[in-house]
Amino acid sequence: MSSSTRPAHGIAIREAVAGDAEEIGRVRHAAWQVAYSGLMPADYLAGLSVDGFVLSARRMLADRAARRMVVLVAEVGGVVSGFASVGPSRDEDAAEGSVGELNAIYVDPAIWRLGIGSRLQEAALRRLREAGYHEATLWVLAINSASRAFYERTGWRHDGGVSGFEAGAEVLDETRYRRAL
Ligand SMILES: CC(C)(COP(=O)(O)OP(=O)(O)OC[C@H]1O[C@@H](n2cnc3c(N)ncnc32)[C@H](O)[C@@H]1OP(=O)(O)O)[C@@H](O)C(=O)NCCC(=O)NCCS
Repeated sequence: MSSSTRPAHGIAIREAVAGDAEEIGRVRHAAWQVAYSGLMPADYLAGLSVDGFVLSARRMLADRAARRMVVLVAEVGGVVSGFASVGPSRDEDAAEGSVGELNAIYVDPAIWRLGIGSRLQEAALRRLREAGYHEATLWVLAINSASRAFYERTGWRHDGGVSGFEAGAEVLDETRYRRAL
């Protein structure tokens, strides 16, 4: 099912289509370069290309039905400027059918702090709720205090889960957050 909401301030949230891969890749690349500067090794970040992110976005969009994922985009002035993806939790300890996951949420850094991430998150969590999930988890870099602040204001809390993210030669700690839906 495709849905779209169009509030007064010009942001439209809608389900992604295959043709959004380029913009999703561009947004993700730009957000990584700004958000992870100083958190991930500089040479690792510099080696990441827009094309690589576009390829991942194409794969994500092509595989989403098989993986029971939903990908939403935020259009601002008709341009895709953010996206979020949700689906079943990929964690081994998750109760099947009960725990959903916020896999990714990214907004173009040029328009951070305008409420677009919040709108995307609300819409994405609504989709999980409508699919019958009772709670949701996500993984965030432990040192990513900006994102942690973004999540914590909407009720996400660290649930004790820890993991590692390989960023080039370094393995960075990841923290799992959880909240009720
Ligand atoms: C996290 C992200 C999606 C937030 O998007 P956004 O559109 O800027 O978020 P919002 O404007 O809705 O922010 C809502 C609130 O979250 C908090 N918040 C957002 N960014 C913050 C930051 N950098 N530092 C501290 N608090 C922040 C604030 O309370 C903010 O409200 P305020 O602006 O009125 O103070 C965006 O910053 C992003 O793409 N970051 C890079 C990618 C990333 O880290 N994603 C998460 C991976 S796990």
